[in-house]
Amino acid sequence: MKNLELSIENVFPFIPKETLDDYAELTRYHTKHLHQRTGRGANFLGWLDLPSSITEESLKEIEDVATELNKKIEVMVVVGIGGSYLGAKAVIDALSHSFGMFINGRPYPKIIFAGQNISEDFTGELVEFLDKKSYAITVISKSGTTTEPAIAFRILRNHLEKKYGPEEAGRRIVAITSAGRGALKKVADEKGYRTFIIPDDVGGRYSLLTPVGMLPIAQAGFDIRQLVAGAKKMEEMTRPGTPFWENPSALYAAARNSLYRQSPKTEILASYHPKLVYLAEWWKQLYGESEGKEKKGIFPASVNFTADLHSMGQYIQEGQRNLFETVISILEPTRRVIIPEEEDDGDGLNFLAGKSIEDVNKMAELGTMLAHVDGGVPNILIKLPKLSEYYLGQLMYFFQKACAISGYLMNVNPFDQPGVEAYKNNMFALLRKPGFEDESELIYKRINDGN
Ligand code: PA5
Repeated sequence: MKNLELSIENVFPFIPKETLDDYAELTRYHTKHLHQRTGRGANFLGWLDLPSSITEESLKEIEDVATELNKKIEVMVVVGIGGSYLGAKAVIDALSHSFGMFINGRPYPKIIFAGQNISEDFTGELVEFLDKKSYAITVISKSGTTTEPAIAFRILRNHLEKKYGPEEAGRRIVAITSAGRGALKKVADEKGYRTFIIPDDVGGRYSLLTPVGMLPIAQAGFDIRQLVAGAKKMEEMTRPGTPFWENPSALYAAARNSLYRQSPKTEILASYHPKLVYLAEWWKQLYGESEGKEKKGIFPASVNFTADLHSMGQYIQEGQRNLFETVISILEPTRRVIIPEEEDDGDGLNFLAGKSIEDVNKMAELGTMLAHVDGGVPNILIKLPKLSEYYLGQLMYFFQKACAISGYLMNVNPFDQPGVEAYKNNMFALLRKPGFEDESELIYKRINDGN
């Protein structure tokens, strides 16, 4: 069976290979500290051996709950924000039919996500939509106190209770939260909701292989065992002792860090598949929240080609030279669509007749990579054999491990996010939340003074 492959050939025109060689020792050192749990944020390393330590019992429990709920619903609303939704959304989008059809007619509920914004229109339209659907709610919040999902959950819980009565509503709600704290655990205990516990030592953006990611993915009808199997393979491929040039996570961390030190401060994740838009969103959160601190960090951006070649392509080709590109290339499509020959060739496309759409997409990918490298944009290439649960498991564990090593290379704690509190404090002060009286006074004075 093939595995994810990393190619950094198109980094070498910008960074000498010897510089990368120097990272062998550095990444070995950081990988050792990661696995010995002696580096920064060591209390949040539960995800590291999750693929190999996950039990049959916990997988079965997730599958059973998914099967039971799926029997009675058309729609599953997953309420959560940041790491409490992006992993599941990334996998579900990557594997789902682009137009919502079920392969082999398998009837799985539509999975929709809420609580990731405070838009009144979004929430109002969601309630209108759910009025006419049979639905259930999975509410996910590790802290159990995050405002956005808490508001959405209160509104949806009320709606569900009115629609089905409190008892049946209670049977249609699953809470995923941490064991010992937070308002969500309290509400779940009081109301008797089925509850899955998020381990304390797994942070939100590393929680794909906990019920946070796995329950929604199982509900969408995808094989969580294959997801775990792929991640487990990558756990083996990146374990301590793996030679540097054979360890894709260490190599990726080293390549991006060497570029960052030389000059580029922005990394653009590119793919040629619209199904991967949310995989990029998940990746942006992973790297943005893990590295962007202490005035350091590579800014993670993303593009979806070829669409964005007609919007962002110009900038990438000729704009400020402070970026590099990481391309996720999917080697094998799951469909084959052939371009037909036409006798009159009015549109001049007969030179493509007989080729598949993917043949053209691949040439766009190769041509773009060469053009961008020629234009001064270093390129890292991640080759994934195909889009499946197994390979997404490999890919996402690969990124997580590389992110941890990257954080250590930058000498930041890749597992905290202290900066996220700043907006919350201001918002709570502006909303006059009890306990924020002093901050309220100060912030309103600042606004009235015009500064
Ligand atoms: O990665 C993280 O820890 C964050 O993005 C959280 O997942 C996000 O803030 C949501 O937090 P919570 O699950 O506590 O509601």
